[in-house]
Amino acid sequence: MKMMVNLKRLFPLCLVLILSVFIVSACQLDTEGTSEVALTGLSPNEINNEAFQDLFPLHYASYQKNLEMSDTKFGGSVLASKFEHNREPYAPILFNGYGFAKEYNEDRGHIYAVEDNISIARINDKSIASCFTCKSSAVPSMIDQFGDEFWTKNFRNEIIPLAEEMGHSPIGCSDCHDPETMELQVTRPMFATAMLEKGEDISNPTLNEMRTYVCAQCHVEYYFEPENKAVTFPWSEGYQPEEMFEYYETIAMESGFSKDWIHNVSGAPMLKSQHPEYETWAEGTHGKAEVSCSDCHMPYTREDDRKKITSHYWTSPLKTIEQSCRTCHADQTEDELKDKVESIQDMNKDALDKAGDILLTSHYYVNKMITSGVPEDKIKQAQDLVRMGQWFWDMVSAENSTGFHNPQGSMDSLKTSVEASNEAIILATEELVKFDVNIDELKEEIEKVKKAVYDEPDNFKKNEHATNDYFPPQKN
Ligand code: HEC
Ligand code: HEC
Ligand code: HEC
Ligand code: HEC
Repeated sequence: MKMMVNLKRLFPLCLVLILSVFIVSACQLDTEGTSEVALTGLSPNEINNEAFQDLFPLHYASYQKNLEMSDTKFGGSVLASKFEHNREPYAPILFNGYGFAKEYNEDRGHIYAVEDNISIARINDKSIASCFTCKSSAVPSMIDQFGDEFWTKNFRNEIIPLAEEMGHSPIGCSDCHDPETMELQVTRPMFATAMLEKGEDISNPTLNEMRTYVCAQCHVEYYFEPENKAVTFPWSEGYQPEEMFEYYETIAMESGFSKDWIHNVSGAPMLKSQHPEYETWAEGTHGKAEVSCSDCHMPYTREDDRKKITSHYWTSPLKTIEQSCRTCHADQTEDELKDKVESIQDMNKDALDKAGDILLTSHYYVNKMITSGVPEDKIKQAQDLVRMGQWFWDMVSAENSTGFHNPQGSMDSLKTSVEASNEAIILATEELVKFDVNIDELKEEIEKVKKAVYDEPDNFKKNEHATNDYFPPQKN
């Protein structure tokens, strides 16, 4: 079942037609009788960017800019490990026991999506096609062809060779455009399924909605539904961190999905959050004001000396404040706007680091509960709190705007995280003193592991320092 939300880009014509009431419905029709939608002459199944190059040289050139790499204070597109000292140096502890503790990189340009996907250490011989879902223009036709068999196909041996044979592109024109008409389209079926479950009607989207939907098919939180590992968005309760958490604790749990992994320090059943840009934006000021992703990330820019086009260089809007922001915020200078964004981000990053520190401490307290012989039910209670603390922290950590998409919502999520982690620590302390555990020594040992992880120069070895004789690994 391939879903195509085709947008009728017939606005000039519609305006005329709207005047003559009886033909209004003609606006809903496809290309019939309209000279507005020019056909490209390309096959509806064209998935290779190069096929679009001669028809749309300026757009193609703009797309090629995604190869460029330059950074902003917190964002940008330089290939970088999250484990660097100025980013999230304790991530190898927080994700211990999971692939994200081995290698975890900042996002970069769309052109690198397939390359980065294939080379990341989290991918191994057993990895499945689900991991490929938001990387390649071959995916929609593969889902069409294989149906629910697609998700569990072998990533390395089946899917990559097939995609190459099909002549795919990394996040290509056809992922967002109907190749025949260039109308915007959503090509990932799980987006439609999730919106339906949430009770949102997307059968007749506006152009403005489509300018967000094309991004929302990938820039979202998801999990692999247990039966056939289909990529699934946990939205039926809502987009807020607490609503998605509720979904995981009830609906996902009942369907047989209880965790992404068991934490190697605390033994807690963990959830990994994935890039929830869309959900965060939706609950923030700009989302509520219906400012689309494309308004900021695809501004109207002059591509050569003559023509203005919609930019296809998806990167930090801080590189294009004039075109991305001042269209609406003309009362503020570029510098003022940049300062506003960075002060939101500074505050957010500071809160994220503090919440992360309390969270990692809670993991070690639970480890100590386990090795000290504290009763199972208390350990379980503390583990559930750690799971919760990490979810609300990761909803901000995994989101790529460092708080900008929803400044208040991100701070709220971190506050909930701190509360849960603290509760775990209090509960653990109450039990540990009963077992005569020396809390000062415990604290010192935590500082030692942190230092060992921080000081390890080899990013791939950092995760190995998170456990030791004092804090033995909990993953069986
Ligand atoms: C009001 C403008 C605005 C809107 C609307 C907006 N963003 Fe952003 N976005 C930003 C800013 C500002 C940043 C932070 C960039 C930085 O740190 O350099 C950002 C960062 C990002 C990043 C990380 C970029 C990087 O440099 O690493 C991604 C990915 C992203 N946004 C996706 C989206 C998606 C998807 C949507 C729609 C659901 C969206 N954004 C809506 C302004 C916006
Ligand atoms: C991630 C989604 C996405 C991808 C991938 C994408 N586009 Fe677009 N494209 C858009 C959006 C959004 C618009 C703005 C549509 C609007 O507002 O009318 C657009 C507009 C266009 C337009 C209309 C003219 C204009 O400048 O607004 C053309 C032509 C176009 N894109 C060509 C391409 C080509 C060629 C490729 C591949 C090299 C491509 N696009 C890849 C999302 C995408
Ligand atoms: C088919 C899935 C898909 C679609 C559709 C998509 N993205 Fe992305 N996007 C990705 C992936 C995957 C990455 C990370 C690539 C990497 O790091 O190699 C990414 C990276 C980005 C970045 C980070 C670039 C940087 O400089 O760090 C921005 C910004 C972004 N996308 C914005 C958007 C916007 C805006 C839209 C909609 C117009 C969109 N994306 C549509 C999958 C997608
Ligand atoms: C399409 C119009 C539009 C664009 C483009 C836009 N904004 Fe906004 N922005 C708004 C609206 C509407 C509000 C909410 C009302 C207000 O406070 O003015 C808002 C609010 C804000 C706020 C208040 C803080 C908050 O989130 O509540 C900041 C800061 C901001 N915008 C910065 C930016 C930056 C930076 C960019 C470019 C990356 C940008 N805006 C692009 C329309 C826009």
